[in-house]
Amino acid sequence: MITITPPFDPRVDLGRGLVLANPIGVASGTFGFGFEAEALVGITHLGAIFSKGTTAVAREGNHPPRIAETAAGMLNSIGLQNPGVEVVARDYAARWAQWPVPVLVNVAGADISEYVAIVQHLDGVSGVSGVELNISCPNIAHGLDFATEPGAAARCVAAVRAVTTLPLVVKLSPNVTDIAEVARAVADAGADAVSAVNTYLGMKMALHARRPVLPGLGVGGLSGPAIKPLALAAVAKVRRAVGIPVIGIGGIATTADALEFLVAGADAVQVGTANFNNPQASREIVEGCLAYAEQHHLQRFTDLRWQEQDHPGSREPSLDVD
Ligand SMILES: Cc1cc2nc3c(=O)[nH]c(=O)nc-3n(C[C@H](O)[C@H](O)[C@H](O)COP(=O)(O)O)c2cc1C
Repeated sequence: MITITPPFDPRVDLGRGLVLANPIGVASGTFGFGFEAEALVGITHLGAIFSKGTTAVAREGNHPPRIAETAAGMLNSIGLQNPGVEVVARDYAARWAQWPVPVLVNVAGADISEYVAIVQHLDGVSGVSGVELNISCPNIAHGLDFATEPGAAARCVAAVRAVTTLPLVVKLSPNVTDIAEVARAVADAGADAVSAVNTYLGMKMALHARRPVLPGLGVGGLSGPAIKPLALAAVAKVRRAVGIPVIGIGGIATTADALEFLVAGADAVQVGTANFNNPQASREIVEGCLAYAEQHHLQRFTDLRWQEQDHPGSREPSLDVD
């Protein structure tokens, strides 16, 4: 049982009326559309659910094998398997409308017109609390990659913004030269919040066969504890770049991991790969974060935020770390 003692307020305002009960969500692709988890572990503890990536028409995804274990992580090449927006908007959303937890639909398109069409379909649908634009899925042929070019990312976000009043979270790719530049571009184009990060491009070789384990080009998205330090650095950089809420993602498996992202400047976080190893991870993290807040007499989770001016010499961030 989670108790909250005033004046502590764990809520997070993502804009346009979307207020999460706490900062812990579950990441796209690691929680399906929420239905299995609802039966298995429950969902009412969560601040938000981010659905599996949804496209205009149903997709079967890539040929297997689609996942591979790596040191402290995993590679996936699922390829956006989903039933298409019509089923999501008609059948799934009707069930979400009964839930006390907001569901944001993760949206993926092959071009701007597909993003716009999907979001138009979701706009005004009861049970859909917002959208998370995945402009950076590494796992579909020809790479759906608006996220690597700030101008293209901004055009996609502006086009979607024009057709919906839903809260709009834009999910950033870490596979870019400067994530801050893309974050600024999508914030200026009308994103209400950004989430960071999606998976890092990676490979695994099957030495016995002298080829990659994953099919096609052999490339997949790396996730799990292996990426946490990289994701933290990306979140800290995005925090400095934009004023809108930042949702931190990458290797969060414990309460301490989630708190580290809040220190780095995240307003909320998503638990991803950890849901596979430990289906109770998100519940443990919510309870752990609330207990930490009570022990440390926080009023808001943003009290944890790293204030760079407290650390002389840290105001000019440098990448010369060697
Ligand atoms: C199996 C799998 C499927 C995923 N599918 C999606 C997806 O459909 N859309 C998306 O934006 N991110 C997807 N992701 C990325 C996660 O949402 C998350 O950004 C990433 O895994 C990093 O977080 P983690 O290390 O906590 O897993 C997927 C990740 C995994 C492991």
